[in-house]
Parts: sequence; C-alpha cells; structure tokens
Amino acid sequence: MGLQFQLPKNVQLDSTKAHAALDVLLSQEGAGSEFTGWLEQPTNYDQDELTRILALSKQVQNHSDVLVCIGIGGSYLGTKAILDALLPTFAKGDTKVLFLGQTLSSSYTKQVLDYLRDKDFSVNVISKSGTTTEPAVAYRLVRKLMREKYSKEEIKKRTFITTDKEKGALKGLATEEGFETFVVPDEIGGRYSFLTAVGFFPLAVAGIDVHALIEGAKKGQELYQKKDSDAVQYAAMRNALYEEGKKIELFVCYEPNLIMIGEWFKQLFGESEGKGGKGIFPASVQFTTDLHSMGQMIQDGERTLFETVLWVNEPEFDIRVPKEEENTDDLAYLEGTSLHTINEKASTGVKRAHEEGGVPNAIITLDRIDAENIGQLLYFYMYSCGISAYMLGVNPFDQPGVEAYKKSMFQELGKPGYEG
Ligand code: PA5
Repeated sequence: MGLQFQLPKNVQLDSTKAHAALDVLLSQEGAGSEFTGWLEQPTNYDQDELTRILALSKQVQNHSDVLVCIGIGGSYLGTKAILDALLPTFAKGDTKVLFLGQTLSSSYTKQVLDYLRDKDFSVNVISKSGTTTEPAVAYRLVRKLMREKYSKEEIKKRTFITTDKEKGALKGLATEEGFETFVVPDEIGGRYSFLTAVGFFPLAVAGIDVHALIEGAKKGQELYQKKDSDAVQYAAMRNALYEEGKKIELFVCYEPNLIMIGEWFKQLFGESEGKGGKGIFPASVQFTTDLHSMGQMIQDGERTLFETVLWVNEPEFDIRVPKEEENTDDLAYLEGTSLHTINEKASTGVKRAHEEGGVPNAIITLDRIDAENIGQLLYFYMYSCGISAYMLGVNPFDQPGVEAYKKSMFQELGKPGYEG
C-alpha cells in the first residue's frame, strides 16, 4: 500500500486547473523547466556515481566514527529528515552523521568542533553553488581542525565534495586538492535533490538503504503522473483551500522522528510557492505534544488554517499500558491498551474537534516508516509542490527572495562588491 492520501470533507477540487498544471509540469516547458530533472531522477540517477558512493561510504564507515555533513537548505534538510525518520532514536555503533554549516551559531559550531577533536571523522561538504556563506565558513573551520589532526594524505582520504560539475569555489578547491567529488546535477535544485549525491552519500554512510529509497520514489514516479493521483489531488486541495482563505497549512505528525520531514516540507513549499505576494504559509506541529501549546490557536484562533496529517499505521515498536492493583492514577480504563492505539484515538479525536472548529483535515497515511515509503513520501511532496505552484501561477523552481537576505548580509559583513 505504501502511501495513501485522504481529502478533507466538503472540499471542491478544480480538476481542470489541476490537470492543466500537471500537464505543464510533465511537459517540462513551464516556468523553471530547466530545473525539472528530479522528475526522472528515480530512473535516471547516475548509477556509476552511486556505485562509487556506496564503495566510498563503506570506507568511511571503516575509518570514521563521524561524518560531518556541511550544507544548508536543500543541501542538508532532506538528509536530516530521512536520517531522523529512519535511524533509531538512540543509534549505537554506526558512523554518526553530524551537521554543520546549517547555522551561523558560534556556540553550536564550537561544540561540534570540540566534539570532533578526539574522534576519527570525515567531511562531506555539500553546496550546489559552492559559494554559500554558512557552509563555506564551517568548512574553513573544519579544514583547520583536519590540518591539525591529519596528514595531507589522510585529509584527502577523508574529504568528499558534492557540488556543481564545474562551477564554484568549492569545485576549484576540490580539483586543486585532488578531493573525491560528487555532482549536483544542473537540472535539479537544492530542495528537490534528495535523490542525488546530496542525499546518497551521507545516507549511505549512515547505513540507510539508498536503493529502497529510490524504489519508493520510482513507485511515485509511476503513480503521480496520472491525472487522478494522490499528488494531483493534494495539490488541487491546497489550491481550493487557499482560494477559500485558508492561507496556512499545518504539517502535522504524531511521531517525533518525523518532525524534520516537516522542516523539509516547509522549505520545499515555502521556497517554491512564496512568490509575488502569494503562497500558502507552510507550518508544522507535532501532536499530541503541540496540542498543549498550539492547540488553542488551532481550535479557536483565526480561521485561516488547514491541516495535513502525516499518519503512520504500524509503529516500529508498541507497548501496552501495564496493569496495577491500585487505580490511583485513574487509568484502569486504559489497562492493556497499546500506546499506539491511544495515539490513534487521540488523532481521530483531534481531527473531529478541529473539523468542528473549522479546520479542514487531510490525511497522508504511510503503512510504516521505512526507506521505500519515505522515498515515495518525499517524491509525493515534490510532485504535488510542482503542480500546486503552477496552479498558483508561480515558478516552483527558483528562489529569488533568498537573494535579498544574502545581499543585505554581505553588506553588513563588508564583502567586497557589496559595499553601500
Ligand atoms: O533549495 C535551494 O535551492 C536552497 O535551499 C539551497 O539548497 C541552499 O540555499 C543552499 O545552496 P547551495 O547548495 O548552493 O549551498
């Protein structure tokens, strides 16, 4: 079964508009069409590069306790989301993937560097442009540490660069130093890149079954090009609700290890749709935790919200409420009930309450969390996002707004060429 999508009650979809947007996406002739390479990526990924990645990832597992993954935005979020979803909460033994360059926090960065000092580590710097400030600064700091710890030969063995095939400062540095490099294809933008070396290398080092991830996406590739597919319906639903004044979409999960999927989702839809004064604001919550912080606002605040719940049918583990002689906590009525059943009842109760409060609820159901389903899920979102953005009338594949902060930050920092 994999993934199923269920529409909210009483939503009227504009199928004609959705089908037209799907056609534009599939034609690869719409706005930003030069960045639609991800559409075929499940069947068109670079197999030779993946073979090399898998072999090198084994070497890293053998000689490193930690892989430091340096990147930001689309060069980091997909990997982090997949690792959080698929690795056990308290992972033991395997090569650990740590992230750097996704923040300019000096406290976080210093602590990671201190942690690395007495570890054997490798580094994977990921930047399509090869010029983004956050990862560039982080890599300079890691490079210093590597020079203190390792010989030139060791550094070469432990450094992996994922960037454009020819452009950018990072590519120049990699060529000069003779580092191993992987390519971010020209026709795939950062937030659509989890099925490239951007995701493949760190995921393989962490022991994720990359082929299963690809299989899941491949399933999506076959399904979502059809006019009545879940991806088309989800996009059409977003458009219909937006037209009704629902300006905020809440990604809702009931599993803490899916929170980062929500972060990835927010980047995907936020950067793809937030243009020209338009776009649904993507937000995320984790239930039932956030019902105790955001629940009031969702139930009773301004009626501009809808929710898309990511529900998982079969948890990896379950546990039952134990019996006790005394009933001092008044939980006798739940004795023997599994925690997952309680979570499920909570979700159906929340759905009913929120719908009664005027919050439309859609549900994406995964039968379980595994690499194949996560591959299909991310592909589902990317497909829907392309269709949804075309329905909105914006280019899903550029991010001109991100440049504004960069320019302004460079002015503050006094970068040559940005003075005044
Ligand atoms: O999705 C995107 O295109 C962005 O989020 C980029 O991934 C992000 O800005 C990092 O860019 P780069 O990989 O060039 O360092």
